[in-house]
Amino acid sequence: MTPKEKVQKLKAQITEANHRYHVLDKPTISDEQYDKLFKELQGLEAKHPELLTKDSPTQRVGDLPLGKFTKYKHRIPMLSLQKAHETEEVADFFERWTKAVSTPFDVIAEPKLDGLAVELIYQNGELVTAATRGDGVTGEEVTQNIKTIRSLPLRLRGDAPSLVEIRAEVIFLKADFLELNEDLLKKGEAPFANPRNAAAGTIRQLDPRIAAARPLDLYCHGVGTHEGFYSSAPELQSDFLELFAKWGLKTNPHWKRLKTPEKVFAYFEKLEKDRLSLPYEIDGAVVKVNSLRDQRELGFVARSPRWAVAFKFKAQEENTKLLEVHFQVGRTGAVTPVAHLEPVSVGGVTVSRASLHNEDQIKALDIRIGDTIVIKRAGDVIPYIQSVVFEKRTGKEKEIVFPSRCPMCDDKLVKAEGEVALRCPNSVCPGKIAESLKHFASKRAMNIEGLGDKWIDLMLETGLVKHFASLYDLTTGDLLKLERQGERSAQKLYDAIQKSKDTTLARFIYGLGIRFVGERTADLLAQHFGSIEALISADEERLCQVEEVGETVAKAVRLHLTDKRNLKEIAALLKAGVTPKHSGNTGGAQPLKGMTFVVTGTLPTFSREDAESFIRSNGGKVTGSVSKNTNYVVVGESPGSKASKAKELGIAILDEDKLKALVP
Ligand code: IVH
Repeated sequence: MTPKEKVQKLKAQITEANHRYHVLDKPTISDEQYDKLFKELQGLEAKHPELLTKDSPTQRVGDLPLGKFTKYKHRIPMLSLQKAHETEEVADFFERWTKAVSTPFDVIAEPKLDGLAVELIYQNGELVTAATRGDGVTGEEVTQNIKTIRSLPLRLRGDAPSLVEIRAEVIFLKADFLELNEDLLKKGEAPFANPRNAAAGTIRQLDPRIAAARPLDLYCHGVGTHEGFYSSAPELQSDFLELFAKWGLKTNPHWKRLKTPEKVFAYFEKLEKDRLSLPYEIDGAVVKVNSLRDQRELGFVARSPRWAVAFKFKAQEENTKLLEVHFQVGRTGAVTPVAHLEPVSVGGVTVSRASLHNEDQIKALDIRIGDTIVIKRAGDVIPYIQSVVFEKRTGKEKEIVFPSRCPMCDDKLVKAEGEVALRCPNSVCPGKIAESLKHFASKRAMNIEGLGDKWIDLMLETGLVKHFASLYDLTTGDLLKLERQGERSAQKLYDAIQKSKDTTLARFIYGLGIRFVGERTADLLAQHFGSIEALISADEERLCQVEEVGETVAKAVRLHLTDKRNLKEIAALLKAGVTPKHSGNTGGAQPLKGMTFVVTGTLPTFSREDAESFIRSNGGKVTGSVSKNTNYVVVGESPGSKASKAKELGIAILDEDKLKALVP
């Protein structure tokens, strides 16, 4: 076989494997085989650059950030849909359709995805351009970012026309969205308000590597222009959807061709019921006249087609009033605004508070106290303020003023350079203490079972507990004094507190709540220093010698461990009998040393924390996202897109047993 033939064969094999994995959800080759093919292709392309083409599966992730996006004018405007909220309104549409055309009732119904509308342009089967909808007439060219979506074919399979524009919706899975926000918050970056914004924000990243690292997906649902079909072009919307599947494009599996209005209403009811169990967000059903000729006959009104209707679910969005904004102090002292609202039922749940994230967001939305605002509840996500109803402004609304002093201790707030958050610098601020105690007791730190937020607030209010160490002075008698605390539960809580004394050095360090010291860093510090005393006496230079510890972390550790109050606290904890043991990995066996793991899904016996601490205590590293540097992905039941990402990159996948087997 000539190199050219070999490259062609490999491209075909890899593309097929991708399609089976990402579009059909039916993988047929193993990760190792995939990896081998991929590397072989990369090797050949490196040796014969003239054989490298844009549609090669190795070319999904570009590496040059763009300066800005170029505008893209759609050949045919991307329209919006007319909306209907009630069955009667939808029935009116059906009646009009039936009157206007001669064919019997025949429609397709599909979920209305809450994502970002894009257009994909394939010329002679090859993906040449992808653009956002923009204002419908002009969007932005985002080809580099769209190409990172693995379920999207870079070349259509089979006979493709000379030109076809595919309309699609780019989405972010709910689970992936929550994880992304967790990661962003950990990095001190602003989270996204909802999966839709996460999808849009990712597609509009100028650096394609960021898009590549985030798990986007897309569903194709319509066509724009098309030219030069080999045989005749399809006559029905449903033919197009079937053709999409043949071309290797991903279509939403829930679309249905229906021939009576009753069937459409039943479909809608079922979809609304299934809504929460779908892995992505939808806000209704789209119903389209199936015959393309009838579509042309029906034509358009203003900016929407007459032949389609968006049948929306009960609002997850309501108007209410912003009564006031309170400022909450977090563990690290970050002061965050919380909106207090006039209680309103949003999709059956009463909402009276909403997060506001930070000052920048408040400015961006131009929210004022007394404003009528749109509150939105999206799936499992915390309710958030979507926008202000400016028409309702009376002029009496008041600006939201950020405090200059801490709402809990009145210390002067500070804003570090390059940070969005205001912070209270007082290490004994009662607001911080409550949050610090919650962190100290939490599962991944001291793991005091049953000591939830409510108990901690109560203990602080009653003055039973003042700082970490006083937790260990509590007697069952003290606990019994707490409201509604029965003897049995008091004993249980007492036992849990006592049990937590026996802990690991890593958990202890993590529990102290030192800024920038997450679990991973706490673990590395524990491994490096072996005891809390050694950590306390380490200067900045020695701290910087620890793997992954840079100046910022070293400074934060020093700042924390030179503060007399903190040292007193640690001494009191040790005196109370807390014994942070080092699991003896310095010099000991570290079978997982040098290996990086990602854990995803529900494992049979290990909790996620268990699995991660098992890996860490054996010298391995745990990270949140799958990259080329990941060695293993531990996959349990209902994993997120990390599992597919692993597969894509050819990274070995382990189940819980195989993970355990790595440690002799
Ligand atoms: S068809 C002529 N089908 O809804 C309009 N749109 O309000 C053709 N959308 O911009 C749109 N899911 O982003 C269609 N299954 C679906 C959809 C869908 C979501 C979005 C799309 C469009 C907006 C229109």
